[in-house]
Amino acid sequence: MKVLSVVGARPQFVKLAPVAQACDAAGVEHVIVHTGQHYDPGLSDVFFADLRIPAPDVHLAVGSGSHGEQTGAMLGPLEAVMEQHRPDWVLVYGDTNSTLAAAVAAVKIHLPLAHLEAGLRSFNRRMPEEHNRVLTDHAADLLLAPTQVAMGHLADEGLADRSVLVGDVMTDVCFRVRDAVVAAGSSPVAGVGDGPYLVSTIHRAENTDDPARLAAIVRALAALPVPVLLLAHPRLRARCEAQGLELAQGSIVVAEPLPYPQMVAAVLGSAGVVTDSGGLQKEAFLLGRACTTLRTETEWVETLEGGWNVLLPDSADLARLPEVALRGPGALPQATPYGSGDAARRVVEVLLAREGAA
Ligand code: UD1
Repeated sequence: MKVLSVVGARPQFVKLAPVAQACDAAGVEHVIVHTGQHYDPGLSDVFFADLRIPAPDVHLAVGSGSHGEQTGAMLGPLEAVMEQHRPDWVLVYGDTNSTLAAAVAAVKIHLPLAHLEAGLRSFNRRMPEEHNRVLTDHAADLLLAPTQVAMGHLADEGLADRSVLVGDVMTDVCFRVRDAVVAAGSSPVAGVGDGPYLVSTIHRAENTDDPARLAAIVRALAALPVPVLLLAHPRLRARCEAQGLELAQGSIVVAEPLPYPQMVAAVLGSAGVVTDSGGLQKEAFLLGRACTTLRTETEWVETLEGGWNVLLPDSADLARLPEVALRGPGALPQATPYGSGDAARRVVEVLLAREGAA
C-alpha cells in the first residue's frame, strides 16, 4: 500500500510524526508532500528534526498569501504530484489551507482521500479553519475521528458510514515526548526566573487581526502578576508591528516559537497556559496544566470538563485573566477522551483494512 501525506503547517508536522513511524513499522510506502505553507525553520524544519520525521519527498514552497492565493497556489502542483505517485490513499491532516487544497486536488482525480482529525467543529463560520474542516470531511472517503464527540458531529452531518474512531495522534506524540523530557530531567526555562510563570501563544486571526482586540489581549497579558513566556508566532509579531503595538511590555517575556520537546518542557514547568491554539489546549490537558483559552469556543470540548480549560470569550472577560489563568489545575481527569497514545497505529490499520474499498 502507498500512502501520500500532505502537510504544510506546524501542527500538521506534529501529527505526521507518529503516522510516519506507524507506516514505517507496518511496511507501508509513505510519500510526504510539504506544501511550504510554513517555511520559517522554527515553524517547520525543527519539527522534522526533533520528531524524527523523514525529510519531505516533495516540497512545493508555496509560502504565504491570502486564503485564495495560498490555497490556489497549492492546487495545481498538488495535482501533478498526486498524478505522478497515484497512491492508494491521500492522507490529509487537520484544518489548514494545505488540508483543503490537498482534499480538492485528490477527489477531482478520483484518488481515495482520508481525513485525519475529522469531525472537529467550532460552529464558528468566521473561522477559516471551520470551512477547511467541513469541506474536507464532506469530500473525503474515510473520516478518521479523534474523539466520540467528533464521531457525533460526523453522524449529525450524515457521514457516519465513512467515519472511524481512531483516537488522537497528537496524544501519541505528546506522551512520547513528555516521557523523554521527564527522563532527561528539567532544565530552567530562559527568561522567566525561578518562580511560577505562564506559557502563552496567540496567533488566530480573530485575536490578531482586530487592532482593539489585539491591544486588549497584550495589555491583559502584560498586567499578569507572574512572567508570561509569550511564544510569538510570526503572524502575531507582524500584526503588532503593523499596529505599532509593543509586545515586550509588563510581565510579557517574548520568545520565538519553541521546538516541540522544549514546548512540552516549558508547559510542564509552568503554572498554566493562556492560548488560542487548538493543539496547546489539548497538550495542557494531557500534561496536567490549567489552560485559559482566549476564544468564544473550543473544538476540544473534553478539555472543559473538570475545569482544565476555561474559555474567556470577550475582551471584557480579560479583567478576570489573573484569577482564571492562575487558578491551578482542576480535578484530575477521570477519562482519557483522546485515547491512550496508539492512534497512529490504528490509522494505518484502518487504511490497510479499507485499501481499495473507497
Ligand atoms: C495556519 C493555519 C492555522 C494553524 C496555524 C498553526 C490556515 C487557514 N491556518 O495559520 O489553522 O493553527 O497555521 O501555526 O491554514 N508566516 C511566516 N512564516 C511562516 C509562515 C507564516 O512569517 O513560516 C507569517 C506570514 O506573515 C503569513 C502569516 O504568518 O502571512 C500567516 O501564515 P498562514 O500560514 O497563512 O496562517 P497561520 O496564521 O500560520
